[in-house]
Amino acid sequence: MDIIRVKGGHRLHGSVQVAGAKNSALKLMAATLLAPGATTLTNVPNISDVHVMGKVLKYMGASIDVIDEHTLLIDTSAVSMWEAPYELVAQMRASTAVMGPLLGRFGKAKIAMPGGCNLGARKIDMHILGLEALGVHFDTDHGYIYADAAEGLVGTDVSLEFASVGATENLIMAAVRAQGCTTIDNAAREPEIVDLACMLNKMGAKIEGAGTPVIKIEGVAELHPVEHQVVGDRIEAGTFVVAGALMAGAEGIEVTGFNPLHLDMVIKRFASMGIECERIAGGIHVRPVEHIKPIDIQTLPFPGFPTDMQPQAMLVSALADGNSIITENIFENRFMFASELVRMGADIHIEGHHAMIHGVRSLSGAQVVSPDLRGGAALVLAGLCAEGTTEVSAIHHIARGYERFVEKLVALGAQVAYVTVPDPNFD
Ligand code: EPU
Repeated sequence: MDIIRVKGGHRLHGSVQVAGAKNSALKLMAATLLAPGATTLTNVPNISDVHVMGKVLKYMGASIDVIDEHTLLIDTSAVSMWEAPYELVAQMRASTAVMGPLLGRFGKAKIAMPGGCNLGARKIDMHILGLEALGVHFDTDHGYIYADAAEGLVGTDVSLEFASVGATENLIMAAVRAQGCTTIDNAAREPEIVDLACMLNKMGAKIEGAGTPVIKIEGVAELHPVEHQVVGDRIEAGTFVVAGALMAGAEGIEVTGFNPLHLDMVIKRFASMGIECERIAGGIHVRPVEHIKPIDIQTLPFPGFPTDMQPQAMLVSALADGNSIITENIFENRFMFASELVRMGADIHIEGHHAMIHGVRSLSGAQVVSPDLRGGAALVLAGLCAEGTTEVSAIHHIARGYERFVEKLVALGAQVAYVTVPDPNFD
C-alpha cells in the first residue's frame, strides 16, 4: 500500500514545468476516432487517466505507439467496435467522451452508464438531450446506453441548460460529422474546449466560436489525421502556484508550461489574498505570501474560478488571517477534502455548498486520506506547510491527473516521498 509522506517546513525554490492538460488530452484522444489513420499527439501527460483512455481506444481496435513519454501515435484506421465497456468506464467517467466521436464516425455507440463518482451524481442528461436533438436515438439496457443515429446526424440548434464541459465536447465531436449546421448555445468556454476545436479544425472540421458561449459547427464529410500539441495544464499550474505561495523561499518559484491567461481568475482572486504572481515567458513567477487575507470565492464555469482549484484555495484560506467563504457551485460532493484538512488543525464548517473557513495560524501533520484527485494534491500541499509529518493515503487519485507529482515537489526542495506501508487489514 503506497502513501505519500511529507515532512513539513522545507522551503521551495527553482522552477517546475507542468504537463499537458489531462482534461484536454483525454478528449483529444477520443477525437482521434473521428479521423481514420494515425494522429500524433504531443505533450500528452503520463498519468493513469490517459492510460485508461488508451485502453478504451485499444478495446475498440485502435493501435497506440508510445513514441516518447509524452508523444502518442494513435491509429484509429482499424477501429471496428463502438463500445466503451463497464470495466473501463467504471475506472474513468471521462471514457464517455468517446460517445460523440463514435456517433460522428459510425452513427452508433454503446457506452456503459457512468454512474456517480466521489464528486457526486454527475449525470449525463445534457449530453443525451443534445445528441437527441441531432437525431440520435437512445436506449438503455443492462447498465449500457445504446446510441443510434440510423438516419444520420442532422445539424440543429442546441441550447444547454448549464455550460457543461463534457456535454459541449460530445456535441462538438458528433456535430462535426452531421449534415448541415449546429449551434451550441450556452456552451462551455474552458481552454480545453478551445484546444479540442483547434485540433478538429486542423483535421478539416469547421468550428467557430470555441471559447465563447455560442459555438457554430458546419458538418463535413470526413476528417483527416493530424499532429497536435496538448495545451498546458492550468490546474496543475495553479496547484504549484499554491505550493509556491505557501512554501517558497524569498526568491519565489517559477511555474511554466502553460498559458497564464488560462489561470486569469485564479491569479486575480489569489492577488486579493495577498499572493503575488508575475507573468514570465510561458508561465508565472510566484512569491511567498507573508500575510494571507481572507476571501469569498465561488466556483463557476470558465472564465469563473475553477472547481478544480477549490481545495487548493481552501487550503490557502485555512491559513488566512480572518474568515473566508467558499461556495462550490459545480459538484455537490467536493468538500470531502475539508474534513481531512480539519484533521490537520483547520477550522472549517460546511453548510450545504458553502464552506466557512476560520483561518488558523498553522496546521499540524496527520494521517489523511486523499478523497479525490484535486483534494489529494491539496492534502500533499497542506503537508508541505504543516508542522511535523503528514501521510496521505489513497494516492491513486493523485496519479490520475498529476504526472510525477512527488518528483516535481522533490526537485523544488520539498521533503516528500512515496512510502510503502503494511496494509492494517492484513497481519
Ligand atoms: N451535469 C449534469 N448533466 C450533464 C452534464 C453535467 O447534471 O449532462 C452536471 C455535473 O453533474 C456537474 C456539473 O454539471 O455537477 C458540471 O459538469 P461538467 O459536464 O461541466 O463537467 P465534466 O465534463 O463532467 C470536466 C472535468 C472536471 C472539471 C469539470 C468542470 C474532464 C475529464 N473533467 O468534468 O475535471 O471539474 O469539467 O470544469 O474534463 C478534475 O480534473 O479533477 C475534474 C473533476
